[in-house]
Amino acid sequence: MKNAQWVKVENSIKLTEKGRMVFRHAGKQILLVAQEDKVFAVDNRCPHEGYPLSEGSLSSDCTLTCNWHNWKFDLQSGDTVVGGDMLRHYPVRRDGEGLWLDIQDAPAEAIQQKALDNIQASFQRYEYARMARELTRLKQAGGHYEQAVVDCIKRNYDRFEYGMGHAFGAAADWLSYGAELEKTGREDAALVPVLEVISHIAWDVLREKSFPFTTDSLPYDRDSFLLAIEQEDEHLAVALVRGALRQGMTYDDLEPDLATAAYAHYNDFGHSVIYVYKTGQLIARLGAEVLEPLLLSLIRNLIYASREDLIPEFKYYGTALAKWDSKGSQPVKASDFRELPIKKAMDRMVLSSANVKALFAAIHETLAWNILYFDLSRDQSTDHPIARNVSWLSLTHGLTFANASRELCGRYPELWPQALLQMACFSGRNAAYTDGGQDVSRWSVNDPAAFFVLEFDQLLDHGFPEPIISCHRVKVLSAVQEDTALLAYAPIMLASANRYLNSPIKRKHSLRIAKQARQFVLA
Ligand code: FES
Repeated sequence: MKNAQWVKVENSIKLTEKGRMVFRHAGKQILLVAQEDKVFAVDNRCPHEGYPLSEGSLSSDCTLTCNWHNWKFDLQSGDTVVGGDMLRHYPVRRDGEGLWLDIQDAPAEAIQQKALDNIQASFQRYEYARMARELTRLKQAGGHYEQAVVDCIKRNYDRFEYGMGHAFGAAADWLSYGAELEKTGREDAALVPVLEVISHIAWDVLREKSFPFTTDSLPYDRDSFLLAIEQEDEHLAVALVRGALRQGMTYDDLEPDLATAAYAHYNDFGHSVIYVYKTGQLIARLGAEVLEPLLLSLIRNLIYASREDLIPEFKYYGTALAKWDSKGSQPVKASDFRELPIKKAMDRMVLSSANVKALFAAIHETLAWNILYFDLSRDQSTDHPIARNVSWLSLTHGLTFANASRELCGRYPELWPQALLQMACFSGRNAAYTDGGQDVSRWSVNDPAAFFVLEFDQLLDHGFPEPIISCHRVKVLSAVQEDTALLAYAPIMLASANRYLNSPIKRKHSLRIAKQARQFVLA
């Protein structure tokens, strides 16, 4: 319990005369309002944008209205009845000596908990600016931004109907950048990455109910787990993973099985693989508290992911995988894959299957080349069949998939055939949307260190309302930064990232959608 800190209100006669007064003490501005025989004391700064509540209107039922944006505060109950953030109320006491206020702050833990509760409350109407204010209050009370992310994950992981998405997938990259900013004392900037993570979660779960996971638990074994995923049996897969956690298994123990499940198909155009890698990074950053929520969310993604290798466009994947004998010894370079369609790209892979490192370098460079030479008119086009819809994000996933694969297959080399053939799926599909004749010289990056500083900095004020856009930018930039430190073909990686980050991106295709809808329905 907090200790009271009563202070006497000087000049309280003003309150009697005017019905309201502002009392200033130790940096606080407290508004006192007298209504009939009651006295209320609240912060004078409106919790919305700080305008003075002393200018507000008071109704007969003790509702104080801030006239700037019409937020309303019930002085009797302490509730914010219109608006969002809570208004601080102070206990009032009157005795023979005068009027007293208890200005003691609540204990830091209580303020932090309140801020966390309020962040969650702000999800209901996606109150972005309120999220920023509550995060600031959390930190002011001695809390940490990452504490808020942990809390948001725990409260919301079951509201993603089809499991993990980019909100969790991009969190590790955002938080790692945010931590760097905090270290260098850039306080305003450091709030942005965590706000990106939290607002993205809020965006994705807006108006979503809970989709509870089973609480059953079964002894874990790898084969049963992989079969459960293959058979799209969420109940069994989740029960097994709960069992694994009970047995004391960690993410690292489970990662080989998660990676195997993710690579078992060309899942959601490679998203599942990216999520496995990013889940590991996020758990490593945020700790054991998020282990179970993130794993369950990831498993749900693995269950619901579209198996793109089963559609005709990528169906050759199974055949190519069966042909993979790790004996193909033909030397390989990036230009071997350039502009090759899907099936030919996979066949070309098999010819060099003995040398996965060289294959990775060649196809990775090709994925970057596809971005550098992306035919932008494809993104703008309004006149093509739905199967040929393509956007920047169709291309950038190739790079983030490669980044995840370099790490995961480095740890589990038996997964290289799947990873490489899926990279061929990316490159083969995207090759159809490139224009190799365009002049791309202006995208060259001469000073990589300065490039990363500038581009990360620009992420702080990207201007895109949809988190799906900014999260891809941070993921691509982080992946390219990680990879270019290791790779000989860094110049093309950097140029591709430069072009992607600094080219227009069309986010709404009204005419295209109208034409495609009519074409489909009226056919
Ligand atoms: S500042 Fe009070 S409602 Fe906006």
